[in-house]
Amino acid sequence: MPAATHRPEVHLRVLVPDDAGWVSAMDRRSATAMARPIGFVEDRLREELEAGEWASDARFGWAIIIDGATAGFALVEGLDARDAEVLLRIGPKARGRGAGREVLRQLADHHFSASPDLVRLTGRAHEHNVPMQRVFNAAGFRMEARYRESFPLGDGSAASEWGYALTRKDWQAGRHRAAETGYDLHGLSFELDETIEGEKADGLLVKFLQEGRRVIARYTADHQLDGEAGGILTGDVLRYRFVHANEDGPRVEEVLGRGRARLQRREDGRLEIVDKWSDERGSHGQRVLVQRVSKD
Ligand SMILES: CC(C)(COP(=O)(O)OP(=O)(O)OC[C@H]1O[C@@H](n2cnc3c(N)ncnc32)[C@H](O)[C@@H]1OP(=O)(O)O)[C@@H](O)C(=O)NCCC(=O)NCCS
Repeated sequence: MPAATHRPEVHLRVLVPDDAGWVSAMDRRSATAMARPIGFVEDRLREELEAGEWASDARFGWAIIIDGATAGFALVEGLDARDAEVLLRIGPKARGRGAGREVLRQLADHHFSASPDLVRLTGRAHEHNVPMQRVFNAAGFRMEARYRESFPLGDGSAASEWGYALTRKDWQAGRHRAAETGYDLHGLSFELDETIEGEKADGLLVKFLQEGRRVIARYTADHQLDGEAGGILTGDVLRYRFVHANEDGPRVEEVLGRGRARLQRREDGRLEIVDKWSDERGSHGQRVLVQRVSKD
């Protein structure tokens, strides 16, 4: 994804009864297969707003204003408990410009100050909702749970969700506003683009998680199973160790090794990784991986 050049002005204001119309419409317009509509009905929402139900001890509804215009809403529920849950909806045109992470930062500042008993601000993202995963990560939330089969798909099956949280201590330490430095691989997937040297890992797909400089990755290829790598990212260089099961005909052997990967951005905005690896069997190679971008 191209790095945003212009960061928009983001403000939050408490929802008022007159917002009921556009919030109900935005609820439908901003929904995706990975974030269903809340189901707001204009008249009922107006009554709830008039009754103060969306600015109470337990829950808050916020209008998201981007560059002066209403562009989405945020809901925070459970404020009277230790854990409150955040939910975001930003209209399609306003996405991808850094507003989502700024909204989470402002919500954290407001609610941790206003609710002294609040300990954790939590949220969930569908396992394929990469934008929301990146938003949580960039706003200092830590990934701490995987809720298996928690998101019903309507056909009897269900997808998993990742659970994230920012604690009061994280907030006090300014983790939600830590400077964004360097590359962020969190939630991103890469596929093999080119093999420069060595064995060709056809079908290679690598999925990353990142917390600060710490990077872990899971990968598989046509003949490589259960791949796991862990490393440290310094600037644009990731040094890592890896292990996977290599299938060689009927034989399966465990392969351990290390590598050095350099990150750079392509002209089309996608990240690319130039990866040099070697393993304990004495094999080595070099290849280029490229970020996979979904059409969502
Ligand atoms: C999820 C959502 C709130 C994010 O808001 P946003 O303002 O677009 O967020 P940001 O611009 O701060 O960050 C989005 C990130 O996802 C990236 N992204 C967007 N589409 C992507 C894709 N298809 N694949 C990979 N990354 C993608 C953006 O580049 C950006 O990351 P980066 O700047 O670190 O590279 C907004 O997209 C939305 O409302 N979506 C629909 C509803 C939803 O999913 N809500 C979350 C469930 S609670």
